[in-house]
Amino acid sequence: MSDITQLILDDHETFRREFAALDDADAPEQLREIWGPLANLLEVHAAAEEAIFYPKLLRRGDDAEDETVDAIGDHNDIRDGVREAARHPIGSAQWWDGVRSARVANSSHMAEEEDDALPDFRRNTPLSVRVNLGHEFLKFKTDHSDAQGLDTSDKDPQAYVSAIEAEISAGDANNSLGIGSLKGR
Ligand SMILES: [Fe+2]
Ligand SMILES: [Fe+2]
Repeated sequence: MSDITQLILDDHETFRREFAALDDADAPEQLREIWGPLANLLEVHAAAEEAIFYPKLLRRGDDAEDETVDAIGDHNDIRDGVREAARHPIGSAQWWDGVRSARVANSSHMAEEEDDALPDFRRNTPLSVRVNLGHEFLKFKTDHSDAQGLDTSDKDPQAYVSAIEAEISAGDANNSLGIGSLKGR
């Protein structure tokens, strides 16, 4: 079942498991084997949520604006940690600092997503729509599986929300002219 909220939880489980796996590794090549795919998934997961999940949450959620502003800010903190780690030799103290800051930012972010954004979305979105979005989420992850061509730069949370809200009202305006709406798509 590819309900997008379930797919997001599945990635979160992978994050928890792979961060834990780093605790049991110490040779640089072992660390690289775990961190490479983990860092990649952190980037792709955040980008996929920003491309597919949060735009829909903003159309449907009860408290979506606050949840989205928080999430984009958290994604930036996670990206900063990943980038910090990338600047240092794997296994060095500075590398671990970057990994730890990504881990800490990600843990608190997952809790917020799981306690606020995902429940808000489930309450306001029928399962059939969540499944369709799940297919889009999976396709995005497949298309960007190596994070190639992915915009992993930090995003201004308010500008991100404003841009999507502008799209939503443009869609509504078109709809009132009979051109069709973004809402609910
Ligand atoms: Fe997430
Ligand atoms: Fe997220």
